[in-house]
Amino acid sequence: MPNPVPSPARPRRALITGITGQDGSYLAELLIGKGYDVHGIVRRASNFNTHRIDHLYHDPHEPLAGGRGRMTLHHGDVTDANILERLVRAIDPDEVYNLAAQSHVRVSFEMPIHTYESVAIGTCKLLEAIRDHQQVGGRQVRFYQASSSEMYGASPAPQNEATPFRPRSPYAIGKLAAHWATVNVREAYGLHASCGILFNHESPRRGETFVTRKITRAVGRIRLGMQDCVYLGNLDARRDWGFAGDYVEAMWLMLQQERADDYVIATGRQLSVREFAELAFSLAGLNAADHIRHDARYLRPAEVHDLLGDASKARSVLGWNPPTTVEQLARMMVDHDIEMAQRERTLRDAGHKLIERRSGASGGA
Ligand code: NAP
Ligand code: GDD
Repeated sequence: MPNPVPSPARPRRALITGITGQDGSYLAELLIGKGYDVHGIVRRASNFNTHRIDHLYHDPHEPLAGGRGRMTLHHGDVTDANILERLVRAIDPDEVYNLAAQSHVRVSFEMPIHTYESVAIGTCKLLEAIRDHQQVGGRQVRFYQASSSEMYGASPAPQNEATPFRPRSPYAIGKLAAHWATVNVREAYGLHASCGILFNHESPRRGETFVTRKITRAVGRIRLGMQDCVYLGNLDARRDWGFAGDYVEAMWLMLQQERADDYVIATGRQLSVREFAELAFSLAGLNAADHIRHDARYLRPAEVHDLLGDASKARSVLGWNPPTTVEQLARMMVDHDIEMAQRERTLRDAGHKLIERRSGASGGA
């Protein structure tokens, strides 16, 4: 089934679940820049949860700058099959990017069922909605699934598309179910459904309880004298860290291929958590060892020790080559978080009450 050719009458339409997250925000930016009409699913929250995409909002009464697309948000949740069916029918998307997930590995040990529901069952519900819609409408819908290097778990590094999966967390088990459900609809029903097996990717928009951002936020606040130290768990785990802005380009490239397939997306370089911390602290003129303390509650019941991706297939088939090095990534995050700490301190000095950043506030994540 051919992917419809974009026309001025009907710009390409994309639906993104998880648009308010780190990757969702970079992907929405990329697609809007390419002229897509971008639709995103947002969960209702008691507080604003769209800070990562607020800059993409465009007043519908105002004309758009040439070539740019528009972003429309819809309330929904991937655990609600009914709303997924309704939205897929109403939006009639050309491409669907499934990024929604309870994405924190440590938290998945505390909330395994909730994690399976959003990560695994949510994906199955979305796939069913797309399958029905495609069957009724006859137009092809291309699907991207956010698979994860966490699925490799205990499999030795380096990992590529042929490496066996050995998941070590409820999150990874849920992702593996979603991964195979996606492969299955491709093989069984011919859906254009691809999985990106993405290794860790970070940015200044990374959630603050993931280790790189936890470190760079601490670096910023320590540099500005607002905090003395940061409590971390296992410093010996090794990860292949890239820049999220580069990785969303790979997601889009996968859906532009004639044939759907699965791809490892990674830099091919690895640092330990300790090495990343040393790098980040040194960029602010600080010594990591003076400021890192151990707290056992940040350890996981089962750890993934060693992730290093081999993205040769993505390089040769998609022509994807990430330009950002881990040093540039750390620089970007540290500069951002020093600026953020400066703003916090200005507010504090002006007498504003800041919410105390206690180590317990992240609930052991
Ligand atoms: P993230 O920042 O945690 O964003 C997750 C997104 O999912 C948020 O928009 C969140 O909404 C939404 N969400 C969670 N549960 C939902 C539900 N039940 N219904 C609808 N939306 C829900 O994650 P990310 O780093 O952008 O990652 C994007 C995807 O790639 C995730 O599936 C993640 O598991 C996967 N992945 C990430 C990496 C990585 O290193 N970043 C690597 C491999 C795979 P709220 O804003 O309301 O919480
Ligand atoms: N979060 C966190 N907090 N991790 C810590 C800490 C801490 O205080 N101290 C040490 N770590 C270690 C973890 O034990 C893990 O080995 C490593 O730092 C990375 O942890 P995270 O940044 O939480 O990421 P992750 O690798 O568990 O999961 C991320 O990457 C996956 C892809 O491999 C998430 O983005 C997942 O959604 C993603 O699928």
